[in-house]
Amino acid sequence: MEFLEVLKKRRSIRKYINQEISKENIEKIIYAGTLSPSAHFREPWEVIVLKEKKKEIVHLMEKYADKLPNDQSILKTSYSIDNCDTLLLIYCNNFEQFQYNLLSIGAMIENMLLQATELGIGSLWIGNVCPVELQINSYLGIDSNTKKLVSAVALGYSNQEVKNLTRKGVSEIIEYID
Ligand SMILES: Cc1cc2nc3c(=O)[nH]c(=O)nc-3n(C[C@H](O)[C@H](O)[C@H](O)COP(=O)(O)O)c2cc1C
Repeated sequence: MEFLEVLKKRRSIRKYINQEISKENIEKIIYAGTLSPSAHFREPWEVIVLKEKKKEIVHLMEKYADKLPNDQSILKTSYSIDNCDTLLLIYCNNFEQFQYNLLSIGAMIENMLLQATELGIGSLWIGNVCPVELQINSYLGIDSNTKKLVSAVALGYSNQEVKNLTRKGVSEIIEYID
């Protein structure tokens, strides 16, 4: 696939068919993430790969949703996690210049989404796991003092048509200051 075609083809996929993603493809996707730039070359990312255990993440989101703002959005996202094949939890393990590390991880996630697209695998970038971070960490035995949950990525073969989005045009977002 041409580079621009991959960029255009990548869309948030929220419904998936019941088809397993191979370990080889999961690792290709994560490898693409490792090629991203990172501030001070800190590579501040860690990835936890969940298959069966993602069910507990769904359960935690359902359990705590009504105590949180954006509860409907959290519930909707939990359906996508339930439905997907593989859930990646993306952690930041470096607290120095945390904002820069977050940007580095954003770049890393986008690389993974683009690689998934090129492999014909649907993906969804998920922020909605963060409100239940402490519960997730306690379930997985992760020490919240050493790393921070930044996002999750759901992966699966698509079972949906995506609606067209009208994006901001280049002329709307640039200003030339000569
Ligand atoms: C940081 C971040 C967090 C996101 N969190 C969620 C989420 O929790 N649930 C969800 O359904 N979509 C989530 N999205 C996906 C956006 O809604 C989506 O990218 C946007 O609507 C544009 O659609 P597109 O990805 O198909 O281009 C997130 C995207 C980003 C960048």
